This record gives sequence, structure tokens and C-alpha cells, in this order.
Amino acid sequence: MDVLKEEIDLKKLPRHIAIIMDGNGRWAQEKGQDRLFGHFHGVESVRDIVEGCAELGIGYLTLYAFSTENWDRPAYEVTGLMELLVETIRKEVETLNKNNIRLHVIGDMSMLPDYASMELKEALEFTAGNTGLNLVMALSYSSRWELTEAVRNLARDVQTEKLDPDAITQDTLQQYLSTRDFPDPELMIRTSGEYRISNFLLYQLAYAELYFTSVRWPDFRKKNLYEAILDFQGRERRFGKTSAQIQQDLMAPGTTF
Ligand code: IPE
Ligand code: IPE
Ligand code: MG
Repeated sequence: MDVLKEEIDLKKLPRHIAIIMDGNGRWAQEKGQDRLFGHFHGVESVRDIVEGCAELGIGYLTLYAFSTENWDRPAYEVTGLMELLVETIRKEVETLNKNNIRLHVIGDMSMLPDYASMELKEALEFTAGNTGLNLVMALSYSSRWELTEAVRNLARDVQTEKLDPDAITQDTLQQYLSTRDFPDPELMIRTSGEYRISNFLLYQLAYAELYFTSVRWPDFRKKNLYEAILDFQGRERRFGKTSAQIQQDLMAPGTTF
């Protein structure tokens, strides 16, 4: 594992890693256990990956913990997940603080039960002064919800003449997203063998490198994170340009053909 870690080029780290933590249910069912058992074990992976990112010096880690669509799961699973969330935050907030980690949340907080949103609010305030890793929990989040909210708020500002439609740029739109304070993810990881985005950061992932692994989330550890980062570092990110242009830019930054 340390061998893998040493192979990582610390000057070429992704600034922002986003993860769709998938496969908890299947992991549990394969062991003849209840789905909640999988979610429970998934917390150990969260702990390990947060620690791994903080140790490497990653700036932002966004974890997809619960989607807008996940509210439609059986009530016992939803309740179990909410309780697990509250319990985990309560237990981990001291450790986050000690490690200079700042917690953020994106998503529709109005959907959360009161006890969960109160716990979260406290944790957000508690870690607000930290300057190390930014840990963003996507909770009751979906991209289409976020974009709908953004359009609604933007329309309001146009209506009250705070915003001139002709002056709207990509930067303006970005200011209305829940991720306005974060750079776009450069690496997106999805565990458990599904090759889809499932309503996660659709706008922000425009140029992210996508990494899929069959490893189920409760088995995902630092070693797997390092493998994903090494894979990322082996890719050529072209942003619409040609490979030759990218090579030229690397030799003489700032110059283009
Ligand atoms: C991901 O695991 C966690 C959440 C969506 C909350 P799943 O619960 O989706 O697990 P699978 O995909 O059914 O195995
Ligand atoms: C995406 O996983 C949401 C989270 C990991 C929180 P899902 O398991 O809900 O996605 P689908 O249903 O397989 O697309
Ligand atoms: Mg799933």
C-alpha cells in the first residue's frame, strides 16, 4: 500500500475528488445480511478515505451519501440511514476538527428530519474555521434538484431586477449552484461496478476524469483510492484541445497555437 502511495505525484493531485459510494446493499446481501449492515460498514470506508485524502493534501472531497431519489427507498432503510448519519457525525466531529477538516453539505436540507438537520448544522458551525480538507457531503442531493433551485433563484433575481438576463455568463450560473464555493471535481470515482452518474453533479463533472471500480463501497480503502489517483495521473486531460497542444502547453505554459 505504501508502495502505491509513494508512486503518487504530489504535484499532480486532483484538487477535488467526488465519489459515488455505491454497493452497500449488495455487499450486505452477499453476506446474507440486511442492507443496513452494509451502510453501517460503509462508514468505515468513509473514515479511511477521508483520512487518506487529508494525508495526501487533497483540497476537496465530495461524497454522495444520499440522493433525492433515495427518499423513495423502504422507510426502514431511510430511517436507518438518517440515524446512522446523525450518529456518525456526532462521533466523528471531534476527529474532523482535530484534523483541520471542514465539513460542508449540499442538498435539500428541508427534506431531512429535524434531529438530523440540527446535528448537521452544529457540525458545520463547529468545523467552519478549519482550513485543511473540505469534506462535502451530498445529502438529499441530486443535480436536477440543484439546477431547478438555481433556475428558480436566478429567475427571482431577474424579476426583482437584481440580475440583467443579458449579463448572465457561466460564472453567473455557477454562483447559483450549491457548489459555488468549490472547484469542479477533477476525478469522479464510482464503486460497485455501475457505469452511470445517477444525478450526481451533472454540470460540475463536465471535464472530470471518470473512474469505475467493481469494489463495493464497504471494501473500498486507501489502497483503492491510491489506485484511482494513479490512474488519473496517467491520463491526458485535453479540455477540447488536441494532444499536441496539450504537450506544447506542458513545455511552455500559457502558450497556445
Ligand atoms: C450506496 O449503496 C448507499 C446509498 C445509496 C445510500 P446502495 O444502498 O445503493 O447499495 P446497492 O447499490 O443497493 O448495492
Ligand atoms: C447513487 O446510488 C446515490 C448514492 C450513492 C448516494 P444509487 O444506488 O441510488 O443509484 P442507482 O439507483 O443505482 O442509479
Ligand atoms: Mg446503489
